[in-house]
Amino acid sequence: MDKIVIRGGTPLSGTVHVSGSKNAALPIITAALLTDGWNTFHNIPDLVDIESIKNLLRTLGVEVTGRDPVKINAGNCSCHEAPYDIVRKMRASILVLGPLLARWGRARVSLPGGCAIGARPVNLHLKALQALGARIELVDGYIDARVERLRGTTIFFDVSTVTGTENIMMAAALADGTTVLENAAREPEIVNLADVLNAMGARIQGAGTNVITIEGVRDLHAVEASVIPDRIEAGTYMIAAAITGGEVLLTGCNPPHLDALVTKLNETGITVDTYPDSARVRADGAVGSVDVTTLPYPGFPTDYQAQMMALMTIARGTSVISETVFENRFMHVNELMRLGADIVIEGNHAVVRGVPRLRGAPVMATDLRASASLIIAGLAAEGETIVSRVYHLDRGYERIEEKLSACGADIRRVPS
Ligand code: EPZ
Repeated sequence: MDKIVIRGGTPLSGTVHVSGSKNAALPIITAALLTDGWNTFHNIPDLVDIESIKNLLRTLGVEVTGRDPVKINAGNCSCHEAPYDIVRKMRASILVLGPLLARWGRARVSLPGGCAIGARPVNLHLKALQALGARIELVDGYIDARVERLRGTTIFFDVSTVTGTENIMMAAALADGTTVLENAAREPEIVNLADVLNAMGARIQGAGTNVITIEGVRDLHAVEASVIPDRIEAGTYMIAAAITGGEVLLTGCNPPHLDALVTKLNETGITVDTYPDSARVRADGAVGSVDVTTLPYPGFPTDYQAQMMALMTIARGTSVISETVFENRFMHVNELMRLGADIVIEGNHAVVRGVPRLRGAPVMATDLRASASLIIAGLAAEGETIVSRVYHLDRGYERIEEKLSACGADIRRVPS
């Protein structure tokens, strides 16, 4: 397993081009299942998770070629089973369930296991599909779903679920009648997916609000479309610039999608100038501590929580970081403490007392965003930080060590 070695202390300075959004590309790629003919999707990031979803579609008999753009044709889709050995590696595989059921009336998808950040059940996905008329059985760890044709209805999500909203939006697109999703998630990735589905011929309104209306149609056609910039990647580099006291220009990003983070960074004293498709981050003084509570979009995203915590470990004062979305998303705390951070966990709150400096040490990545927080901390720590199990990082960050070293960081990947 590869490691990443960082010698901290260099302020980042330079330009980072933000890649396409992993969390937008995944549902857009599965939406191709709803169509015949060749779809072409642009701004696809080069990530392990993207290769995983492409391989899953190939096991379903879907033709998938190219990396960016990727071209997908589900006209000859012959299998409707998403096997455990693929689904267990990536929870987002559940996103084939809605499209398979809507297009072919049957699907057999392995239940995604939990992961480092929580149990992450899919009960809300299944409850919604049953409301649309699907017969769902759980047999041998698989979701076995069948329906003649899905029928539109009103669905209320007990909690805001991003992939739950995406799965049901795709299923309802081909249902008979109209579906209303209430308490729908509002993330920008959902708006991107709705725009692509509407280009395919769907009739979806309200994406980006918590009430989405989908008027079912008989069929959808292939399209050419683009994936939005990755707001989590962009925010990660903003925080990296902040913790190193540097200045970084982020190009190819969509600043309005980063509002909650930009507001928080401004509160810490970091300057963020935003432009139509770029943002400049300048850390020209000490970082002040701020409190953070994660919430569904447009609240402060849980996917920035670990990275923000890394920044707060060297802030002036004490910050309280509250995680309200996932029940176990503090796996990075122990590793940050190995670097000298002063953090105390109290339930779903982490009390972070700023320390003058971090000191490099060997640390272990446990999940995607936790690994990003360790990289960020290593960039600021005195001496050498060695991050192991960086396969977590490769799931969601395209060439992170190249992008950081282009901004002056002393960082290198050591193949195992
Ligand atoms: C999406 O995961 C993202 N992944 C996650 O990003 C992100 O952290 C999360 O949304 C929250 O913003 C993708 O988009 C591929 P949820 P998702 O369903 O959809 C509970 C990353 O780092 N819940 O919005 O799986 C769930 O347990 C990843 O890129 C149920 O109880 O998250 C959680 O507590 C990590 N039952 C909360 O809702 C369900 O049926 C929010 O989960 C579904 C969800």
